[in-house]
Amino acid sequence: IHNVIFDSSKEASLLVAHEIANLIQRKEELNEPCVLGLATGSSPIKVYEELVRMHKEEGLSFKNVITFNLDEYYPMDKDNIQSYYYFMHEHLFNHVDIPAENINIPDGKVSAEELRQYCIDYDMKINSYGGLDFQLLGIGRTGHIGFNEPGSHVNSATRSITLDHITRVDAAPAFLGVDNVPRKAITMGIGTVRNAKRIVLLAWGISKADIIKETIEGEISSQVPATYLQEHPNTTFVLDTEASSELT
Ligand code: F6R
Repeated sequence: IHNVIFDSSKEASLLVAHEIANLIQRKEELNEPCVLGLATGSSPIKVYEELVRMHKEEGLSFKNVITFNLDEYYPMDKDNIQSYYYFMHEHLFNHVDIPAENINIPDGKVSAEELRQYCIDYDMKINSYGGLDFQLLGIGRTGHIGFNEPGSHVNSATRSITLDHITRVDAAPAFLGVDNVPRKAITMGIGTVRNAKRIVLLAWGISKADIIKETIEGEISSQVPATYLQEHPNTTFVLDTEASSELT
C-alpha cells in the first residue's frame, strides 16, 4: 500500500474522481463494462459530487458503468431516507446516465430464509463481470471496511453481520438515537473487496487518525480488518492532514 496526503479532502476527492472518470473512459474505448465498487457515508460525498459535475459539464457517461455497493443495513427499506439505497440515488445515481439495471445494492428487505443464497449470488454476479475494476472505501473507527467488523476473516464473502457498538454509536445521529440504528447489515466480504484490481480508501478528519495509524502501521489482524489491505498489491490510502496526523 501507499498513502497520499492532501491539505484538504476537497482537493483529494477531485483527484480520486478524476481517476475513476479516466477508468470509465478507458473502459468505454475498449467497449468493456467498467465495474465499480462503491461506498456510502460522509467520506465519498465529494467524489460523487465531482463525478456528477463531470457528467453534467463534461459529458462523462455512465452508460457502460456497473456498480456494486459495499453494504446496506438489515433490515432496511429502500425508500427509507436512512437506507444506503436512498443515499446512493441522492448523491450519484439520480444525477447521471447509469442504466437502472446496472446498479447493485444489497437488498435490505431480502427475507431471512433467502439471505444466505442472496449473498452468494451477489458475489457470483460480481465475479460474472470479471470482478471489481475499482473499489472505493471509507473506514470506520473500528477498522471496518464495508461493514466487515473486527473478527472478520480475510477470505470472508458477502454475508450478514452484526454491527459493532462503536459503529452504531457513530451512525446514531442519522437515526436520531443509537437505539434506532439497525443491529445488522449485509456487507461485501473482505475477500470480495480484496479481489478488486484497484482499491482507494478515503479518510478525512482527526476522528480517523488513530485507526489510520493502526491500519497502515499495525500488524495485520482480524481485529482491525482494514489491515488486510496491507497485502493488496494496488491500494492507495487517500488522506487529509488530520487523518494522517498520527502516522510516523
Ligand atoms: C459505507 C461503508 C463504511 C463507511 C465507514 C466510514 O458504505 O462501507 O465502511 O465507509 O463507516 O463512514 P464515514 O465515511 O461516514 O466516516
